[in-house]
Amino acid sequence: MIIMIYACDEKNAIGKNGDLPWRQSTDLQHFKTITSGGTIVMGRKTWDSLPGKLPNRRHVVLTRSDRSDVETASFDEIIEMAKSQDLFVIGGGEIYELFLPYAQIIYRTIIHCTVDQPDTFAPEIDESIFALDEHNFVEKSQRDQYDMTFQKLSK
Ligand SMILES: NC(=O)c1ccc[n+]([C@@H]2O[C@H](COP(=O)([O-])OP(=O)(O)OC[C@H]3O[C@@H](n4cnc5c(N)ncnc54)[C@H](OP(=O)(O)O)[C@@H]3O)[C@@H](O)[C@H]2O)c1
Repeated sequence: MIIMIYACDEKNAIGKNGDLPWRQSTDLQHFKTITSGGTIVMGRKTWDSLPGKLPNRRHVVLTRSDRSDVETASFDEIIEMAKSQDLFVIGGGEIYELFLPYAQIIYRTIIHCTVDQPDTFAPEIDESIFALDEHNFVEKSQRDQYDMTFQKLSK
């Protein structure tokens, strides 16, 4: 099954200058809790934005180039893999767009801010296709910039 997970601002922005546009420790912890022990699938630009492999997760990267620093797979290979295991699609914008039609579950964190001049966005979610199963508002902690809402949507 394909499971997508992302954080967006109130206008669907997810990135700026190749990085996340906020510092949200509580959301990173939420991401870790959901994806730990699983397989994470990402675009090459998101892979390049990471400091390295995240602990306790298999990493699979989509690229049209040869990379020796990480496991890579084609779009078709990932769709095939998802028939027999859960795959967490973790971004970025191009990759969310590509996999949205195949996603069964979406974990979306709304970061309660509006990013100034973002350059990457999440695709629009058709809420006649995805039902909102969970919606939990969380106030910012000392290690977050903004309040946030954790949502879970499913087909
Ligand atoms: N807020 C969030 O939750 C979140 C999560 C993740 C990322 N982000 C942000 O999103 C931004 C990056 O997103 P992005 O859209 O620019 O890039 P991306 O989706 O991370 O990666 C795009 C790359 O993926 C590869 N690719 C795309 N389609 C492919 C296909 N069909 N087959 C094979 N490879 C394919 C290409 O790599 P090659 O060029 O190597 O061929 C392409 O350049 C950053 O700012 C990052 O911080 C935000």
